[in-house]
Amino acid sequence: TKQIILDVDTGIDDALAITYAAHSPELNLLGITTTFGNTYVDVAARNTLNLLHLLGKDDVPVYKGMSQMLNGDDHHQPATWIHGENGVGNVDMPESPKQPEAIPAHEFIISTVREYPNEVTIITMANHSNLARAIKQDPEIASLIDEVILMGGAVTTEGNITAHAEANIYNDSEAAQFTMQSGVSMTLIGLDVTRKTLLDKATIDTWVENGSPLAEALAGMCQFYMEAYEKEEPILKGCPLHDPLTIGVAVEPSLVETKQMNVNVVTDGEANGQTVGTEDENGNVKVALEVDAEKFVAHFANRILG
Ligand code: BDR
Ligand code: CA
Repeated sequence: TKQIILDVDTGIDDALAITYAAHSPELNLLGITTTFGNTYVDVAARNTLNLLHLLGKDDVPVYKGMSQMLNGDDHHQPATWIHGENGVGNVDMPESPKQPEAIPAHEFIISTVREYPNEVTIITMANHSNLARAIKQDPEIASLIDEVILMGGAVTTEGNITAHAEANIYNDSEAAQFTMQSGVSMTLIGLDVTRKTLLDKATIDTWVENGSPLAEALAGMCQFYMEAYEKEEPILKGCPLHDPLTIGVAVEPSLVETKQMNVNVVTDGEANGQTVGTEDENGNVKVALEVDAEKFVAHFANRILG
């Protein structure tokens, strides 16, 4: 099994990814760190705890990140138009009795990587402020992290939050540039591939029929997500499984074809958050450019309800 830390801004597709990970025996969830993006950092932590409770996984600890970007600036508004006012499509999950742990997200990342040198895969599904703060405080961990698999960026395609940028990179572009240049081994799962992995209505309907509390909660979230995408990106004909694809790749790396590239993040101006990549065999990032979408979506759909 792989030792895993998830970094999330739960978030509807984050909720799908956490569920998929919890139902994947190949992955051992050491803890989940939360940040801002789809919603505020506290709300992301609450949503994550509530989801873990629904999954019967109260034993997985949750650590909150800071609500400022790496440079100390406050973050702008959450993405309520895609994820709802509460971050999870306005679905009310039962309240978890648990609270986030006392130590901050970046401290947890440092101590866990130190405890399991060369063994930890960090899967980021949100902005990079937690990972960047960890590496900034303890630069040696960059070489002790087995791999970072990140959902973020758009190297060969348009962005989603702006024409240039994907939301996770845009939400803290300096943090993303910092982690990418830190020497950590990285696989980038960007809009290049995640926009090709779509959840359809028929699958959501099977969750409604299933009727378990988990199935009902996920179906409610995805009905909201589907309607949002019908408005925002109607060309897609379904809602993209951005964050879940990182879990698919952690379980089965051959789901994507990657190219080694040199990737830089634009950190200001109109193109803020853009990921600029050129092919380079000594580059800093493995960029996913092709995905076996059919195989992935089937794998996801088979596992999601456990
Ligand atoms: C990414 O941004 C967030 O809104 C989603 O959860 C996903 O991680 C897609 O651009
Ligand atoms: Ca996310």
